[in-house]
Amino acid sequence: MKTTNVIKIALAAGIVLALPSLSQAAGITGTKHDLSNYGWGSSELCIFCHTPHNAKTTDAPLWNHGTTATASFTLYTSPTLNAVPSQPTATSKACMSCHDGTVALDTFSTQTGTHFLGGLSKLGSDLSNDHPISFTYDSALASTDGGLKTPASATFVDAAKTIPLFNAKVECASCHSVHDNTYGYFLRVSNAGSALCLKCHNK
Ligand code: HEC
Ligand code: HEC
Ligand code: HEC
Ligand code: HEC
Repeated sequence: MKTTNVIKIALAAGIVLALPSLSQAAGITGTKHDLSNYGWGSSELCIFCHTPHNAKTTDAPLWNHGTTATASFTLYTSPTLNAVPSQPTATSKACMSCHDGTVALDTFSTQTGTHFLGGLSKLGSDLSNDHPISFTYDSALASTDGGLKTPASATFVDAAKTIPLFNAKVECASCHSVHDNTYGYFLRVSNAGSALCLKCHNK
């Protein structure tokens, strides 16, 4: 059967919607984290965030993006919170280097860019209305709180190793996989039925 016929049949059957997810291997290409096609100084994929040499910080592995200019973020707080969030550490600080909107998306290596993130993806410097990050999540927190699962280790919440911790901390990248948009919003797992939330919360 010719390919065109296969496509026509797929269209007729209404199963064409399934095709993109089948052909879309996990990866950055074509996602919102693919900045290679904007003419922003490089057509490489990784270079906006990583470099093999002369990395800027160790916030995330071999980090090549301009670091956030915000000295102090407003942190999440609530009367029922047991965890103690800190200023964004490590990988979360790396996310904020684009997502707080203070550093241009195309500021990387030695280049200073001019295109800034806006809209809903710009979290700004006020994290008080966002899920807490940069706090230790261990068995002690789980037993104090009473509504949390006990993390399998200091590196993963679950035994299946889908939800990572970074030095035993919850970070942006615990919920988000920056390189893979399979589930939308760069989520680690589908959040249908709040499955992501239930990886950590016992509710
Ligand atoms: C938009 C920014 C961004 C781009 C583009 C990006 N990364 Fe990353 N990468 C990160 C962040 C942030 C982390 C740390 C968080 C984490 O581990 O999930 C990371 C972690 C990593 C790690 C260590 C953790 C792991 O998942 O193994 C490797 C290896 C890596 N990236 C490779 C790459 C390669 C190769 C490319 C290009 C094909 C790339 N990255 C493109 C932001 C990016
Ligand atoms: C190099 C800059 C850069 C870095 C670093 C970066 N992002 Fe992004 N991110 C973007 C851009 C650009 C968008 C698209 C914004 C838009 O379309 O309005 C985006 C969008 C997103 C979205 C929304 C996706 C959607 O479908 O709407 C999420 C979630 C996200 N990023 C999470 C993260 C996390 C978590 C990190 C760190 C682990 C991170 N990003 C690091 C540039 C970056
Ligand atoms: C506890 C899990 C969790 C953590 C931690 C987390 N996010 Fe998210 N994020 C989500 C979910 C789930 C969504 C999907 C949006 C929704 O369901 O409303 C999302 C959406 C987003 C979006 C898209 C916003 C929009 O409305 O279009 C961005 C950007 C984003 N996250 C960035 C970040 C950054 C940066 C951090 C760290 C400061 C972070 N996230 C920490 C779970 C999380
Ligand atoms: C990586 C594990 C993890 C994931 C995934 C996660 N959370 Fe959390 N969340 C926590 C931990 C740990 C705390 C801190 C609880 C405490 O100390 O009271 C927390 C705190 C909260 C709080 C604040 C509690 C308070 O007392 O102020 C809310 C609300 C919440 N999470 C909702 C969600 C929702 C909704 C989702 C899914 C979108 C989600 N969480 C996903 C680990 C997670």
